[in-house]
Amino acid sequence: METLNAVLAVDLPNDPPWQDGQVREYLAETMPGERRISWVAEDDRLPEGESEIFAHVSMLLLGDIGVLEVSVRPALRRRGLGRQLVAVAARRAYLEGFSSIGVEAIGGTPAIAFYESLGFEREYVETRSVLTLSTVDWPALTEMAGGIAPGYRVEYHPGGPPETLLEAYAQAKLEAQDDDGDLDLAPRSSDPQRLRDSLDTLHRRGLKPYIVLATHDATGVVAGLTEVVVPAQHPERADQYDTIVVRSHRGYGIDRAIKARMLFELRSAEPGLREVQTWNAHDNESMLKVNAELGYQPDRDWYEYGADVAQLVQSLEAID
Ligand SMILES: CC(C)(COP(=O)(O)OP(=O)(O)OC[C@H]1O[C@@H](n2cnc3c(N)ncnc32)[C@H](O)[C@@H]1OP(=O)(O)O)[C@@H](O)C(=O)NCCC(=O)NCCS
Repeated sequence: METLNAVLAVDLPNDPPWQDGQVREYLAETMPGERRISWVAEDDRLPEGESEIFAHVSMLLLGDIGVLEVSVRPALRRRGLGRQLVAVAARRAYLEGFSSIGVEAIGGTPAIAFYESLGFEREYVETRSVLTLSTVDWPALTEMAGGIAPGYRVEYHPGGPPETLLEAYAQAKLEAQDDDGDLDLAPRSSDPQRLRDSLDTLHRRGLKPYIVLATHDATGVVAGLTEVVVPAQHPERADQYDTIVVRSHRGYGIDRAIKARMLFELRSAEPGLREVQTWNAHDNESMLKVNAELGYQPDRDWYEYGADVAQLVQSLEAID
């Protein structure tokens, strides 16, 4: 956590530092069928029993892809530690038969030049935006929350959707699946059992989910949903995950209404919360517009990079 906070202080100074809340669980717990392997680089000059971590890498193995997170203490950068850690993880992914490696790299940080130097290719870009609750225009939000067309009902479900709505909830996610163009570094859970597993995994990792959804009175389908997670590791800043409005229910004010309602619910359920962050594709104009109306401010570009495992291993060995 100290390494991560040292990285944050230099690379993302406006992000809240991590607290010691379920950090172990955050790293160790995964969805069924997924695994995470972590390596640390330690100071080997210290006496036995003492340890100081200089850098770490973790790799989440899912499907045929390994998703990396690498952190090197700022004072120890440009000595080859990052490259060495990627090499260790890539070799392991190769030996286990995984075909590609993906990583998120944050615009305006050294990670971009680092991954490009290793031959990773830019596959996808999103913008992160941050909303500061103290600046929210709550009366305007009241109007937005109520501005949904008749025939829909908005429901709030802290902890996750109820069992009775899981099927309809998963169906809404399934329909949105095709609209994605990203690398699937964080795939959606679009069947009821995966959804149950996913909610259970969130809870085990210390990520408290909040859901607001809109059901269509006439058919009972879930027409729209929005998910926010409050992490025990940085409870001042929540993550706005998925927001989906099913294609045939667009144009009825659902996106605005469910997101506005969510902010009201968060304000009362999480008094320690100060900000909410979200990520949007540049071409998702309607969602960017709604986010701007809610008060989200664009913060940084957020990239997904990918590399072929065999090629990566080969080129890293050539450098060695
Ligand atoms: C990206 C990161 C892992 C690089 O670690 P590192 O140990 O400094 O990397 P290396 O020394 O192995 O660098 C390998 C190559 O990457 C490139 N590179 C790395 N940092 C660079 C920089 N700041 N500018 C230009 N090129 C850079 C260089 O080509 C370098 O080779 P060289 O030093 O021989 O020129 C490190 O900066 C880091 O931890 N960043 C934070 C990552 C992050 O965003 N984590 C998420 C939590 S916020």
